[in-house]
Amino acid sequence: MIEAPIRSSLLERLSAVLGDKGLITDARDIAPWLTDWRGRYHGAAQAMVAPANAHELAQIVRIAAQTGTAIVPQGGNSGMVGGATPDQSGAALLLSTRRMNVIRAIDGQARNVIAEAGVVLQTLHEAVAAKGLRFPLTLGGKGSATIGGLVSTNAGGTQVLRHGTMRALVEGIEAVLPDGSLYQGLVTLKKDNRGYDLKHLLIGAEGTLGIVTAATLKLVPALIDRAVVWAGLESPLAARQLLLFLEDCAGHEMEGFEIVPQRCLTNVLRHVPGTRAPLSGAHRWHVLVELVRDNPSAAQPAERAEALMAQALERGLIEDAAISASEAQAGAFWKLRDSISEAERAEGPAMQHDISVPVADMARFIIEAGAKVEARFAGTEVAAYGHLGDGNVHFHVAAPKSADVSAWPATPGKAISAFVHDLVVEAGGSISAEHGIGQMKRDELARLGDPARMAALTAIKRALDPKGIMNPGKLIAL
Ligand code: FAD
Ligand code: MLT
Ligand code: ZN
Repeated sequence: MIEAPIRSSLLERLSAVLGDKGLITDARDIAPWLTDWRGRYHGAAQAMVAPANAHELAQIVRIAAQTGTAIVPQGGNSGMVGGATPDQSGAALLLSTRRMNVIRAIDGQARNVIAEAGVVLQTLHEAVAAKGLRFPLTLGGKGSATIGGLVSTNAGGTQVLRHGTMRALVEGIEAVLPDGSLYQGLVTLKKDNRGYDLKHLLIGAEGTLGIVTAATLKLVPALIDRAVVWAGLESPLAARQLLLFLEDCAGHEMEGFEIVPQRCLTNVLRHVPGTRAPLSGAHRWHVLVELVRDNPSAAQPAERAEALMAQALERGLIEDAAISASEAQAGAFWKLRDSISEAERAEGPAMQHDISVPVADMARFIIEAGAKVEARFAGTEVAAYGHLGDGNVHFHVAAPKSADVSAWPATPGKAISAFVHDLVVEAGGSISAEHGIGQMKRDELARLGDPARMAALTAIKRALDPKGIMNPGKLIAL
């Protein structure tokens, strides 16, 4: 526990910078932010600091650097790997960016937007839509995920197929570095060759190298319309064939290609009110495909979807399909997909693995690795869903109904994750496709990471954050 005199002088210094609005010491107000979205990690903090702007934030970091106080940055707290949850020592400051929520500029000509770290993704979508533009990244957590969190986890989501991950959409960054200096890199240049690109170091750094205060993000034209297809099919291999067929015929129109096993759809229909099965028959696997139009001369997505699904049926790639007849129905199909993690949370304990392998290999990996896990760990059930078009699925292993819920995540949970991660690495894949490492996979990254790369990561961390105050215990252990 922090000695009272030290704590009080630190809080006095912070209070002088932040005032009442920015310094939260009441444990009841901090408590909701000390547990991660999945309820797996529970931390403690000596206070929550919520700066109003980058300059206040820089002052906080300078004080923390002088006093050797750990800082845990937090945006929407929708992360999946415990990255924004402090440890249990109570020594850290939980730094919330949620008050830094100004959209500073939307530039229709340059097609970019400057948004502060605490801007919520949904809010950004709405603001740029009002200008006839679109920020082409979305995910089920859009109602809480913030720009700073999305940058720091290099988030993916359901539109990566056409637009890439957050890394492809960040044109500039403003950030406070571990010594409290403010890096102003928001200006976007098409060509800029002045050595190491700090922007790319901070993207995906999970708050371990500095705190993002704002970002310049790429925009694209708003959609004219879209069609969402929900198709039933036999297996992941059939889904792979369908993907290849659609990439051939409609690659530039296809924005999303998500795979959903029947088990996940059953969970959603059981736990998420207002959801309905899109198809009347039974299918072991499902895919959601989104076709879009943002150019008036392009064909109508609904007509395209009709024609393409008719061909897919003829070729035996799918068993049945429903095509959205309205924006509301398109939204309802996406709700089924986006609610899987929430439904699974309600269903019971499972070990989550956010994995990627080469795109062409994922369908076979799902089948073979799934069988190996279920054979090795009796009573478990594998549910692999998600971004098949990117070679990324969430490979979740559900506990047997008889399992001891509290003990299961540790035993055999840990062994299950090690087994799954070994299979992923053998297949040339990554143990973190889009969620990051956080505290959840730090030891697995150390165990499986390429030694040269791990040494370089540690050297960069030590060089930029010699006092180790930035989100300690996340990503890499020093
Ligand atoms: P937080 O959870 O607050 O923080 C995440 C990490 O970033 C932590 O390490 C934190 O310390 C760090 N951080 C936060 N803000 C800053 C900052 N300003 N500067 C430096 N570090 C910072 N993710 C995907 O990639 N793809 C998906 O499809 C997807 N779907 C999701 C669906 C649901 C229903 C939910 C709940 C989450 C989903 N996520 C998904 C996970 C999550 O939304 C993302 O990881 C998102 O990027 C987290 O943003 P956040 O603001 O909530 O970050
Ligand atoms: C998703 O694709 O739904 C998310 O990444 C969240 C999850 O892991 O379920
Ligand atoms: Zn995902």
